[in-house]
Parts: sequence; structure tokens; C-alpha cells
Amino acid sequence: MRKKIALAGPDITQKEIDYVTDAVKNGWYETYDMHIKKLEKTFTDYVGAKYAIATYCGTHALHLATLALGLKADDEVIVTDQSYIATAQAVSYVGARCVFVDIDPDTLCINPALIEKAVTEKTKAIMLVHFAGMAADMDAIMRLASKYNLKVIEDACQLVGGKYKDRYVGTIGDAGVFSFQGAKIAVGGEGGMFVTNDQELYKRALHYGTFCRNDKISYLWSDDIGYNYRISNVTAALILAQIERIDELIGKKKNIYDWYHKYLSNCKSVKLLKINQECQSNYAYVTGYITDETKISRDELIKKLLELNIHVRPGYPSMSAMPNYERRFDVPFSEKYWKKGLVFPTALNLTEEDIKYVCTEVIKLIEGEHTL
Ligand SMILES: Cc1ncc(COP(=O)(O)O)c(C=O)c1O
Repeated sequence: MRKKIALAGPDITQKEIDYVTDAVKNGWYETYDMHIKKLEKTFTDYVGAKYAIATYCGTHALHLATLALGLKADDEVIVTDQSYIATAQAVSYVGARCVFVDIDPDTLCINPALIEKAVTEKTKAIMLVHFAGMAADMDAIMRLASKYNLKVIEDACQLVGGKYKDRYVGTIGDAGVFSFQGAKIAVGGEGGMFVTNDQELYKRALHYGTFCRNDKISYLWSDDIGYNYRISNVTAALILAQIERIDELIGKKKNIYDWYHKYLSNCKSVKLLKINQECQSNYAYVTGYITDETKISRDELIKKLLELNIHVRPGYPSMSAMPNYERRFDVPFSEKYWKKGLVFPTALNLTEEDIKYVCTEVIKLIEGEHTL
């Protein structure tokens, strides 16, 4: 069998090995958090935010955002219906209610035109996702947030290094969150980042992420229920090396993105999504829909590709359909992406030949015999 065509996977060089080795050898005693501090400084400089907290994972950073913003039971948060479930669960962790709204079918990000209808007197925040390498419509979202006095959390877990217009995503709303989990463009195995320009929000998030310790009384004193959400120095060293190479990693992802668009451009059965104009993408994902008249269903296609060791995945299930959640509004485009959406392999070890092979097999399965 050919090599595994992985859905995702990193690009690791000697630099990552050197940084991790350095952290293992020297990241103790006075320098126990040296790489964490350097990562936070490098990240804030890169995205242009004032404050950052590196966390064990992106979900923890999302939770710090909902905690620090003071969201609580009985509050409502308007959440995009398409995302990895962590987005919604971070709202649920503080007891607030998710009010899901549908996505824009071309960007897969929350449709701002639907947000206004979902606002009630209980609404306190908007939780958007910059989805699959595409940026949400931040101008429209920030306008609504200011009109209704809502806080904005940008879940930028999938868009490390991406911009909306001329600003890095994650720095436009009240808080931004990133992930360095193993399938992301820059990896730490696990890892996350909370960023904000608001000093008070930063202090509160840091407090919650470090057991709500009150150092004024004693470093062993805790004045509220808090969490141990800090990243390890060794993991921070790995992520630091990746962030120092982020523009190179984006370049590699862009090649993969371009190869898919080249080899699938004439395939009528697959509609690949193009990056929206306002977004400078990190090209970390290649996604789209299969069209209605295909020889086999989307799920059969995925099954057959997996048999060939080609790891494709479906769109996320609609979060408002999951247990513990409820649906207040119809979400036809989120459902369409759930039922018809496909995410193609974009692991960083894939070559043009691999991508051509994937596209050839997709076209063969979906349209019958065909060679590129
Ligand atoms: C949009 C989105 N939000 C949140 C998360 C959670 O991040 P983590 O796995 O680092 O906790 C992920 C990915 O895993 C994600 O894709």
C-alpha cells in the first residue's frame, strides 16, 4: 500500500529539535519558564496584540476567555453552528447558553446577517470561528457588537498566522484564541494561546489559569475556583520554533492548497471553497462540498478513500443537533456542510505527486474512470 496520506501533520526541522533539547537541558531552576516567556513575547509581537497567555491547549484558552469576560449561567452567547465542539463547550463550562446561528456557505464562518435576529436582552457575547483558513466578517461582527454592547471572542484556533484585512485574526475582538494541537499548522502536540489588548481581561484570564492564586497574600493562597491551564516549558519550546517558521509553514500549505485547486478545478462533482477576499489565509485547510449528482455518496467516498489510506474527513456535525444543545434557528448551510462537506489531507509531508494521486482517486470514485 502507498504511504499514509494523512489529514494533517507537521513539518519538523532541526530548529524544533534544538529548541526542545535546549528546554529539556536548560529549562529548569531560574530559567524554568524561559521558553514560555519567549513564546508569549514572540506571539504578541507577531500578531500585534498587547498580552498573551500560553496554555496547555486551545480549549483551555477558550475557557479562560469565557471566564475572564465574566460570562455566567443565564447569559446567552451567539455561537457559529459549524466548529469543533470545543468552541461551544467553552461557553457551556461557565454555564452560559449557546444560541447557534448558521454559517455563510462560502466562508463556513458565522453569517453576521443572522446574528442580529438572535440577540435578546440576555445576549452578552458573540463566539465566532475563523473556520478552515477563512476569516469571519469582522467588520460586520464588530459593528453589531458595538450596537448591542456585546463582547467578542475570536476562536482563531484554525487560523494561526491569518489576517482579516490588515490585522491578524484574534486581535480584533475582546479576546482571541489559537491552538497548536497536532493537526494545526504550527504544532506543540497540544498547546494554545489566549491574546487580548485589554489589560484587565488579561489579568483575570491569568488569574483563572493559575488556580486563582493571590500572590499578595501568599503564592499558596487561592481566592476563587481556578484552573491549572499553563503550558509546559518543553512544549512552549517546540511551538516557539514553529512560530518562528510560521511564514515558511504558510508557504508550504499554500502550495498544497494550490495543487488541489489545480487538479480538482475541472471536477464538477467537488466544489472547493476559495479563500474570501478580506482574508489573508494560512491555507491550512482545503475543504469544499460534493455536489448533488454524484455516483457515490459523500460517506461512501470517504470510506473508499480510507481503504486507500487517504485520510479525508467529513464536515463537522451541526453543534445545535448535539445532546446538551438546542436549536433555536434553522441552520441549513451548516447542515449542508455536515452532510456534504469534505476536508482534504493537507499534512505538511505531502508532495505534489501525493495530491495529484488523491485528486485522481477522488475523481475516479466520484465520476468514474479518469486520469489527470
Ligand atoms: C475551531 C477550533 N476551536 C477549538 C479547538 C480546540 O483546540 P485544542 O484542541 O487545542 O484544545 C479546535 C481544534 O482542536 C478548533 O479547530
